[in-house]
Amino acid sequence: MLTRRNMIRGSGLALGTGAILASGLPLGLSGAWAQDPAMTPRGGGAPVRLHYNENAAGCSPKVIEAMRDAMDESNLYPVKREEAYTNAVASYHSIAEGNVIRGNGSSEILLVTLLAAHQNAEWSKLTVFAPSMSFEVIADLCQKWKIPYVRTPMAKDLRVDLDALRSAAEAQAAHGPVMVYLTSPNNPTGDLIHSKSIGDWVKSAHENILFLIDEAYIDFVTDPTHKSAIDLVKAGYENLVVARTFSKVYGLAGVRVGYGIAATKIAESMNAAMIAGSNVNVLGLAAGVAALEDRDFYKASLASNRIARKMATDVLDDLGLDYIPGEANFIFHQIGRPHSEYQPRMLEHGFKVGRLMGGLQNWNRLSIGLPNEMERFADTLRLFRNNGWV
Ligand SMILES: Cc1ncc(COP(=O)(O)O)c(C=O)c1O
Repeated sequence: MLTRRNMIRGSGLALGTGAILASGLPLGLSGAWAQDPAMTPRGGGAPVRLHYNENAAGCSPKVIEAMRDAMDESNLYPVKREEAYTNAVASYHSIAEGNVIRGNGSSEILLVTLLAAHQNAEWSKLTVFAPSMSFEVIADLCQKWKIPYVRTPMAKDLRVDLDALRSAAEAQAAHGPVMVYLTSPNNPTGDLIHSKSIGDWVKSAHENILFLIDEAYIDFVTDPTHKSAIDLVKAGYENLVVARTFSKVYGLAGVRVGYGIAATKIAESMNAAMIAGSNVNVLGLAAGVAALEDRDFYKASLASNRIARKMATDVLDDLGLDYIPGEANFIFHQIGRPHSEYQPRMLEHGFKVGRLMGGLQNWNRLSIGLPNEMERFADTLRLFRNNGWV
């Protein structure tokens, strides 16, 4: 039978993404970029890194070139580059420059949003709410700074229960300031919290609530009806900060560059709270500008993720391992056996997989690698099944 796996095997091509894209898979995409050498693995080496939700294809060669050029400015403070970066982000989103907050990765946006809220005298008695399975940076900071952090329960299917989050946060807002941290698609579960539900809440929320909407994975969303929360900022809402990163689809996790979008008065106070005014260096600023310009790399990255993700869901389906339907560059899936056994065994077989998350022993978060990596991963998972390890 001519399965897609056989087709790929039979192609006799080196199984880089470019080769797979060129091998006639039903992508609905074509063009020179499909064989772009940029889409072969970079960095990392062995074992295969399926644990940090990075972009295994690296970043655009045009971004590397831009960073090389920027190195000549290593002796200069990055003022000019800051302006260019802010301008590029603002025009990419068709928003004013005054709404942009530069971040040393989006983690800094998360940190400074929390810090700025907590430092504000009226907000110092802040309580933070988030789904119990969420990106842990905010939880860790709250623990460090002794800010109350409330985890609301997930739904039975492990998706974010927005109603539970909403009623808990609204109840607290009657007594004092609240920050709601929401990631969509959520990490580690990958499920999409639709913009319609987020928007309904933001528009009608108690005035004591500030939303921190983390859109680290929004580029991977295929649902055309899902919109960025940046639209809410554009519509004039002043109760939210939207965090974005270049670490995922743009492949720049090591460069540490991201941004936030918020109403001008929030953006001003956050920019003022940044390290000495210049928190992103010339390389990061140049990288961000070039990354936004190279739409071909962006599309190729998404196409690669789509193919590789399908390979992962195919093997999970074959083996009857349940997973949360999601829209990101990772999948949260059942492994049927304790994670404490699975993770070291995968490492022995050449794959770094996610750490234990949400205390769920029988689940793992799998980052999507390149298609050839996912093919090897699928073979390994089948071997695990034959050995009774999943
Ligand atoms: C939901 C979420 N937000 C933010 C980040 C941090 O990204 P950055 O590298 O931009 O700091 C990550 C990283 O994995 C993430 O998963």
